Amino acid sequence: MSAQKSYEELIKRIKEVSLLYSCEAVLGWDERTYMPRGGAGHRAEQLGLITGLAHEKFTDPRVGELLAELEQSDLVKDADSPEAVNIRETRYQYDKRTKLPKDLVEEITRVTTLAQGEWVTARKNSDFKHFLPWLEKVVKLQRDKADAYGYDTEPYSALLDDYEVGATTEEIVDVFTELRKELVELLEKVKGAPKRPDASIVTRDYDVELQRVFGESVAGSMGFSFNEGRLDITTHPFCTGIGPGDTRITTRYNPKRLNDALFGIMHEAGHGLYEMGINKKEYFGTPMGESTSLGIHESQSRMWENQVGRSRSFWVYFFPQAQRIFKESLGDVKLDDFYAAINEVKPSYIRVEADEATYNLHILLRFELERPLLTGELKPADAPGEWNSRFRKYFGIDVDKDSNGCLQDVHWSAGYIGYFPTYTLGNLYSAQFFARAKQDMPDLTKQFESGQFSGMREWLRKNIHLHGQRYRANRLVEKVTGKPLSHKPLIDYMNKKYSEIYGF
Ligand code: CO
Repeated sequence: MSAQKSYEELIKRIKEVSLLYSCEAVLGWDERTYMPRGGAGHRAEQLGLITGLAHEKFTDPRVGELLAELEQSDLVKDADSPEAVNIRETRYQYDKRTKLPKDLVEEITRVTTLAQGEWVTARKNSDFKHFLPWLEKVVKLQRDKADAYGYDTEPYSALLDDYEVGATTEEIVDVFTELRKELVELLEKVKGAPKRPDASIVTRDYDVELQRVFGESVAGSMGFSFNEGRLDITTHPFCTGIGPGDTRITTRYNPKRLNDALFGIMHEAGHGLYEMGINKKEYFGTPMGESTSLGIHESQSRMWENQVGRSRSFWVYFFPQAQRIFKESLGDVKLDDFYAAINEVKPSYIRVEADEATYNLHILLRFELERPLLTGELKPADAPGEWNSRFRKYFGIDVDKDSNGCLQDVHWSAGYIGYFPTYTLGNLYSAQFFARAKQDMPDLTKQFESGQFSGMREWLRKNIHLHGQRYRANRLVEKVTGKPLSHKPLIDYMNKKYSEIYGF
């Protein structure tokens, strides 16, 4: 058989797997938006069947045969060609997946689907005991998964690799250590600063329907297409790229806080733009048609949420609009007071509502719990105590209830252990990309001031989105910015912004 024929057979097979996963994505979206609570058991069976089938199809020995043949062919000569990328990344995932027994994959899907339902109840009632047996099951299954993959130094690296291909725990510990030192210094400066924002501005009355209208208008200006996407309501906001022409985001509204939904929508729309920017029409179902890592994904959402959405230049354009829409609450407010209010630094319980300066400390805390949970050094029953004592140390406040502590995130119930570091990596990447974009487009701030975001969006599309998985995260960062990953751009950006707002 010619290499071209074999390549076509490989693509046909992996596309079918992707179609199964996109069916799973629709069911998962439905489960988290509109499905009645009573449907949880049946949904778990549906999802279990689909992931089992997808796993079986992807790990078929024929895929291995085709890969072995193609790896000897001319198709891999140019390592960055779409064919070579698809062969390389399919091989990488094939080797990983063939290490996982089918019954383990199905059991993980079944248990985590049920666990997510129980987590919703536990969180609502702030009842950790209700969730504990499920956390125990999830941790055990994730440990089994890490064992099946194999690892060099600790099981955590095996799980991390599912979200950030090629990243190791050791590297992340190094980057986080540097970052923590700088963040602590920054927080000290903020604490002792002469100026303080009046954040009560953003906790006035903000009609939920008007928030939706304003949020959709902002997302539309960013370039999020409502013809190829939609926005719904959930407890825990997310973005899911279902396939070509179908990208969905969710948010939650608080009638007493403008920030939550607004920056939440910008965040998820940033993820959405990445999904929409990948060339799925041509490459759907293959690695060239997929995002390269969760950290890079998060860099896209955080850039729109923070570097764009929390910049003064963005609000030069949008603040007059916001004043017209929320007349009662913003009519008498000055732009600079509003800008300071949306950038207030204040330790708080909830990660997804945290300001930019404290956000990464929330991630460090989770990372520090997950590693010993996985090795068994920390028992799931002791997680709340460990969480609360670390929280006190980093944030200087006591956690009042577990729904404000270790029950707040969906991740553990969903089996996403090893996922959290990708949030901080995303913040680091976003600052490094943004610094580069400003070099490439010196008038970027002016563009924002006049409501022009297509320059930013097209820069991201060209440099990041269109590559799919051509470059893994580390290489992409070097390729785009000319430098390896560093904590410096993020810290420089924060120091500059907060010194202006807080006057230190
Ligand atoms: Co995100």
